[in-house]
Amino acid sequence: MTNGLREMFDDFHHYFPGNSDEIRVYFAPGRVNLIGEHTDYNGGYVLPTALSLGTYMLVRLRQDGKYQLRSLNFKDHPVNFDEEQLVFKKEDDWGNYPKGIIKELMKESASLKGADILYYGTIPNAAGLSSSASIGMVTAFGLASLVGHPTDRQALAFLCQRMENHFIGVNTGILDQFAVGLCEKDYALFLNCDTLEKEKVALKLGNYKLVITNTNKRRGLADSKYNERLQECREALKVLQEVNPAWKTLSDISIEAFERHQSRLASIPKARARHVITENARVLDAVKALKVSDLKTFGELMKQSHRSLRDDYEVTGQELDALFDTQRQMAGCIGTRMTGAGFGGCTISIVDANTLDVFKETVSRKYNQQTGLEATFYICETGNGVREITEEVVS
Ligand code: GLA
Repeated sequence: MTNGLREMFDDFHHYFPGNSDEIRVYFAPGRVNLIGEHTDYNGGYVLPTALSLGTYMLVRLRQDGKYQLRSLNFKDHPVNFDEEQLVFKKEDDWGNYPKGIIKELMKESASLKGADILYYGTIPNAAGLSSSASIGMVTAFGLASLVGHPTDRQALAFLCQRMENHFIGVNTGILDQFAVGLCEKDYALFLNCDTLEKEKVALKLGNYKLVITNTNKRRGLADSKYNERLQECREALKVLQEVNPAWKTLSDISIEAFERHQSRLASIPKARARHVITENARVLDAVKALKVSDLKTFGELMKQSHRSLRDDYEVTGQELDALFDTQRQMAGCIGTRMTGAGFGGCTISIVDANTLDVFKETVSRKYNQQTGLEATFYICETGNGVREITEEVVS
């Protein structure tokens, strides 16, 4: 067993004394989206990969209807409730994610009767790397496994999305939950969010590394702005459906058709739709490029994606744009863009391994001069989707 996990077992015993044989360990990764942003809730394409960073969950079932949740990341903030109290409470903060999952599992008649749970997350919080889908999926998969409820990862991804939409109140698409549930190490997941067709595409990066740069800006307005963008896309779709009612989502509309009919739209919905429609085309081109290891083209498409998210979708903001502008000019950086919902969070870049030190040093310095904030860097190791961690694997 790794030292980290052994310590987690000790902590679990400290908080929840009792039988150690009944404790089980689960893990769900975070994710980074390589390209295809704000397309998922518009029926479009995405291309995420799962990280080696993620959320560990140690759990032991109870039979008295009580849930006791602890997180090593929020040691002073335990969350306790019983099965009669599955309601969102602002003061429960991080605990609302697992609580919402328990509620969704109960709705499906999972035979849950309480649990003691200890979490430990290695994903930086509020960085747009899906710490919420990670805690959601690890809880859903772990509890479902323990009580013999179906553990189909796709079904659990939808369950987890319902938690976000109905319990937390953010109308997210399915990008994060699918990535956290279904990605595989060394592959990106090319997903059509309308048909759910998926394909794994090998990440053959040669001497290049995927580098995540965190703006360390709190994503304050993220949730309300996110729902606002969704509305603007719906508005654009409604107008364009007057041309062709067969268009079910913005992603059904080709660039040519959009250009022909865009004059019907007011300027904001027009710009939002243009982002979605051109972003889908970029994902298709990016997948083609990745398959033939044409990283240069892939990188160019990443930069175009950022510009579209900045100018048409308006979800970047000063901090992400500052990183983008420095990073795109660095020798050895062949592609860079914001990733995730935006409004803060992280960028993802493709950087020549030999230039990493200069990249980090220069980006840190310039970013600090421009914003007063400290950037942090993660060299992205890809990982597998949600799973149980057994003794054999960790010993
Ligand atoms: C957040 C949401 C996803 C997706 C991205 C933007 O991560 O949870 O569903 O919409 O933003 O691509």
